[in-house]
Amino acid sequence: MKSLALLHASQLVTLSGPKRPRVGKELSELGIIRDGGVLIRDGKIDIVGTSEEIEKKAAGAEIVDLGGRVVLPGFVDAHTHLVFAGNRIDDFERRSRGETYEQIAKAGRGIWSTVEKTRVASEADLFARAKKHAEWFLKCGTTTVEVKSGYGLTLEDELKILRVMRQLNEKTALEVVPTFLGAHAVPRDTSPGEYVDLVINQMLPRVAKEKLAKFCDVFCERGYFDIEQSREILTAAKKLGLKLRGHVDQLTNSGGAKLMAELGATTADHLEKTADQGITALKSRNVQPVLLPGSVYALGSTSYPRAREMIEAGLAAVLATDFNPGSSPTPSMPMVLSLACTQMKMSPAEAITAATINAAYSLSRGDKIGSLEAGKLANIGVFDCEDYRELAYWFGFPQTHAVYVRGTRIC
Ligand code: NIG
Ligand code: FE
Repeated sequence: MKSLALLHASQLVTLSGPKRPRVGKELSELGIIRDGGVLIRDGKIDIVGTSEEIEKKAAGAEIVDLGGRVVLPGFVDAHTHLVFAGNRIDDFERRSRGETYEQIAKAGRGIWSTVEKTRVASEADLFARAKKHAEWFLKCGTTTVEVKSGYGLTLEDELKILRVMRQLNEKTALEVVPTFLGAHAVPRDTSPGEYVDLVINQMLPRVAKEKLAKFCDVFCERGYFDIEQSREILTAAKKLGLKLRGHVDQLTNSGGAKLMAELGATTADHLEKTADQGITALKSRNVQPVLLPGSVYALGSTSYPRAREMIEAGLAAVLATDFNPGSSPTPSMPMVLSLACTQMKMSPAEAITAATINAAYSLSRGDKIGSLEAGKLANIGVFDCEDYRELAYWFGFPQTHAVYVRGTRIC
């Protein structure tokens, strides 16, 4: 593969630094190179420096002048539900009239209605739909996503969703890290006990055997899976070699953060209702909090997670979209940056760190992606602005100019 030199970024936001997730003040250190450039060879970053330095070493390389734009590592979205059929515009309209997420779910819509549509979709249909979603992510500058199953809730349908993720990895430029979320809801026709049994004794062993997921997740919430059931499922997953993530304390403070700490989970996600004790517990095991302001916003709530306290407690915060048809229909990390700054009082620099290098470590991919450093994959976003803070400042429209995955321009 020919080498490629990208020159004249107004700010090359490298995120270079220690080889671990960033905490405290480190979240504000972006490693910016003014008038920066990157030399790419064989899909990987070869050298990072000023344009002058790169130009001297770029003999024979294709040269691209970025014209004074901002350059970032591709966003890493560490929490999505990208594979599903249909949409939830009816739920959306109901919420616009004042009904809550929980009321709508109780009335038989919510997650269940997406499960019904996803079950009847063929693998090919689901893939076609997921491919379209993947393009949305790439257009927003995201190059890696974690994707959860959870809209099948039968062995075959969960496997079907996980296989679609595998296809996304093989056939699109978007890199997918798969998570098994069989415990997303209890199916209508099954008792909670029976379903937990099915997840533990049939689904998990099959998912592990076919290596279809790296992580296991549970929706730990009133009306879904309680602490005890969540503990059982996640413990079984851990024994099979899966790492753990969890939807916890989203609608109620049920001790979910504490459970994730007890189990040594990689991440605890949502945390809208987590209080001091939960934050202390997460710190005791260095569980990374994954904050999802898009879902708070789209549910019309004002209960944003306590990002400032989490950062001050020394947690390696992550930001993600939670892209899903119900609570967070956005694939846009820039939108999440905006919400993080305006609603959770994170600084633009902290938000960018949480959306790149910290997210990469939360997916065990910190050695390959999340920063622009020699040896990492050349996954790069170029944005039509001069200052990185503009990414969080302007909102509601894409500022993406170009996206490179492994050194190839894909949009
Ligand atoms: O992260 N909370 C559970 N799961 C998703 C919502 C899924 C849906 O409503 O379809 C979430 O918000
Ligand atoms: Fe989610």
